Amino acid sequence: VELSFSQFSQLLACPTCQGDLIPGRFPEINECATCHSLYPVIQGIPSFADRQVYWGEELDLHEMQVINAHAEQQGWESAVEQWVAPRFPSRAKYIREFFRSDWRFLFPLRSDWTVLDVGAGWGTLAVAFGELCRQVVALESSYERTRFIQTRVVQDGLANILPLHGTLSAPPLTRESFDLVILNGVLEWLGWSDPGQPVASVQRHLLQQVYQLLKPGGYLYIGIENRFGISYWLGAPDHSYLRYTSLMPRPLAHWVTWMNRGHTYRTYTYSPFGYRRLLHRAGFSDLRFYAVMPNYSRPIFYWQLGDGLAVKRFAEVFFSDKPFGLSRAARLGRKVVDLIPNSLLGTLSTYLMPHLLILACKPGEPDA
Ligand SMILES: C[S@@+](CC[C@H](N)C(=O)[O-])C[C@H]1O[C@@H](n2cnc3c(N)ncnc32)[C@H](O)[C@@H]1O
Repeated sequence: VELSFSQFSQLLACPTCQGDLIPGRFPEINECATCHSLYPVIQGIPSFADRQVYWGEELDLHEMQVINAHAEQQGWESAVEQWVAPRFPSRAKYIREFFRSDWRFLFPLRSDWTVLDVGAGWGTLAVAFGELCRQVVALESSYERTRFIQTRVVQDGLANILPLHGTLSAPPLTRESFDLVILNGVLEWLGWSDPGQPVASVQRHLLQQVYQLLKPGGYLYIGIENRFGISYWLGAPDHSYLRYTSLMPRPLAHWVTWMNRGHTYRTYTYSPFGYRRLLHRAGFSDLRFYAVMPNYSRPIFYWQLGDGLAVKRFAEVFFSDKPFGLSRAARLGRKVVDLIPNSLLGTLSTYLMPHLLILACKPGEPDA
């Protein structure tokens, strides 16, 4: 398919002054009708951010460029099969599989919704929602990632998805346009958007941007880690690539990160109470928290946070007899969970569940 700019023009605005972007000059350039800023369109992708910025889990910028060249010539699935699957099989699944969007059942999703996926990565969630909703904007700050999404949506024939190279700090988007905004694995990285400012205020400011982009009555979805999740007590690396930093008081985390990595601690996560405060300060209401297992990027089991009975049910499945029997640690784990009363288990799990799904609402009446 050809992606047609005109069907998205109402959603787009100048990131500098919110003026209208002049239609008609696409595909080469976007010009603001008010402040006359110019924004290039590169290989069909409207670009509003620095093209040198790259963020990649396992693959560096050069590898991503190789994947994109392969994807353009031989198909995105072939590129994932050849360049990602052999070395990073779980990343290949993460890129391909739509069950990652199963948390959508927590929302009253409608086919006439307009969805914004912020930090869309490889485009998996954007594509999944494109199959279900009227329009999706995939906003991504890394150009090479946006390029991959572009190739993917063109090859899959999804003309209702617009990949946009831009950032949440200066979104090229019209306010009050979206029914749902997705922040999956993104909020914790937003502190890097403005390294000169305190992390929590950058995160709050960018959540306020999300608030402005939502229609009244619109929804926010967040998939993220729990700051005090049990995995961190057991030594799992934090987003700083160091152990235990999320558990530390922030000044200590800054110092440890500085000593080991040469910069301050920029990737704050919070306890559910911390997320509650942050979201309320940004204006959101009707917050709902879910525990999710095995993690928010593979949402298979989830339940309302604090529900001890649900934890017990999950433990029954998790510790159910395996073909080769249970390890001694697993048998002990099952016994401990059995012995703890439901109410205490609910409280403990609020602090210790490693991954969370958070739903929030912008107050107001949705469109009829
Ligand atoms: C962990 S990945 C999550 C990918 C995707 N949401 C998913 O779950 O498949 C984080 C992504 O957010 C992007 N990102 C980080 N900060 C951003 C910002 N301020 N604006 C837009 N994208 C951002 C990164 O480039 C990266 O691709």
